[in-house]
Amino acid sequence: MKRIKIFDTTLRDGEQSPGCSMNLKEKIEMARQLEKLGVDIIEAGFAIASPMDHKSVKAIAEAVEQCTVASLARCVKGDIDAAWDAVKEAKHPRIHVFLATSDIHMEYKLQMTREQVLSRITEMVGYAKSLCTDIEFSAEDASRSEWEFLARCYSNAIAAGATTINVPDTVGYATPQEMADLITYLKEHVEGIDGVDISVHCHNDLGMAVANSLASIGAGATQIECTVNGIGERAGNASLEEVVMALHTRRDFYQAETGINTRQIYRSSKLLSNITGVAIPPSKAIVGANAFAHESGIHQHGVIANAQTYEIMNSADVGIPQNTMVLGKHSGKHALREKLVSMGYELTDEELEQVFVRFKAFADKKKNITGSDVEALVLHRHNQFIGQCQLASHVVNAGHGVPNTSYIRLQRGDEILEDVAIGTGPLDASFKAINRMLGMDIKLESFSLNAVTDGEDAVGEAIVKLIGSDGRSYTGTGLSTDIIESSIRAYVNGINKMTDSAE
Ligand code: KIV
Ligand code: ZN
Repeated sequence: MKRIKIFDTTLRDGEQSPGCSMNLKEKIEMARQLEKLGVDIIEAGFAIASPMDHKSVKAIAEAVEQCTVASLARCVKGDIDAAWDAVKEAKHPRIHVFLATSDIHMEYKLQMTREQVLSRITEMVGYAKSLCTDIEFSAEDASRSEWEFLARCYSNAIAAGATTINVPDTVGYATPQEMADLITYLKEHVEGIDGVDISVHCHNDLGMAVANSLASIGAGATQIECTVNGIGERAGNASLEEVVMALHTRRDFYQAETGINTRQIYRSSKLLSNITGVAIPPSKAIVGANAFAHESGIHQHGVIANAQTYEIMNSADVGIPQNTMVLGKHSGKHALREKLVSMGYELTDEELEQVFVRFKAFADKKKNITGSDVEALVLHRHNQFIGQCQLASHVVNAGHGVPNTSYIRLQRGDEILEDVAIGTGPLDASFKAINRMLGMDIKLESFSLNAVTDGEDAVGEAIVKLIGSDGRSYTGTGLSTDIIESSIRAYVNGINKMTDSAE
């Protein structure tokens, strides 16, 4: 079995995709989950991009112990200095430098000749190597670069000290056969390639990112760059869970394995979706709600007779909770902890206490608390307790042919704030009341509401995207058995994140 390294770029390439930005606490929480998942390398960000990016790469480098932590850098001294400054405290630091090598990028973007690109690679990879032993070099737009020139670029990078060479299909243009042929060519023509890792970084513009990554493994790639839920620039990157489960399920074919704890896949996917507010499509492979559901009678009959008739993977292997035991209002903290442990969640006493407080509030309103409800409470535990403002109470008067009014009471530290407003609907009135009492100019960009479980007493999860006066987008989420309350909580959560990031 070949050992394939998993390089996760959820916090860099993934975070670059619209609607997926995360604040510092969220990035650290996600990085910790990636560590539990067992990824080999976490690309924590692009340190030079902004002071906030630098701060979060540094914080992740200090928080993570097992994984290598990388920061991206252009082939520019200032970028490399910033990257090194951000990762140098990591147990295993890496600098990831990149430079475009396709004719179109060199001519129109870089305005550099081939010779200039070759010498810049030697100079800047060498400079990065003088700071850090673990250096990755990426030839941006490699799949559209001229192969002979590309091989020279990688040979230079290796001679200057690169320990991993990455082959990005930056615009998602390549086919699986082309990726495999390119890797085969590079293995034959790049000097020193036997001593380094060969990585691929495939984008999904034509829906082939996972297939391209797998074909590259067949040809000799030893590292795959991917993201949880496949988030990333435009159509995204290769999806981590799909690459990993393809290798796991078809090890007979690929003869390759990863260090991923597959039972953490579902939790990682849920956490990311909860943080970003970006829903997982129901038919998404591995982690979508329908990925293990059987609707047709013929399929159901087959699965009852023998699960393998229609199931090639076991849902427990990706960490989908199996335990159907429900909790209710008489369940205590001990039963809640048991349930959480059976679902794979290990909470500290303090975290358990936070979840228990809301669990009790739910149990007063809802007869049966299912695994999905408990999971939603765990994923929302930070949201409800972070930030300055907490919803204390609200009264909404809504209907047809009457003014819709909302009275909101917020607790901000020791202060109680209250206001009442009229709006076109109960939520419009509530959001106006909050904006006015906080004196904030906030635009509601999008709003969605999902039922966490089926049934009449389903818990509603509201997700809002707010645009602050800084022009940035903030995601807020809220959970309640009452959909107006979950919406107000989501709005307050978004505001808390906005004020948090301004501090
Ligand atoms: O898509 C790409 O080429 C990248 C590189 C910076 C690795 O993200
Ligand atoms: Zn990319």
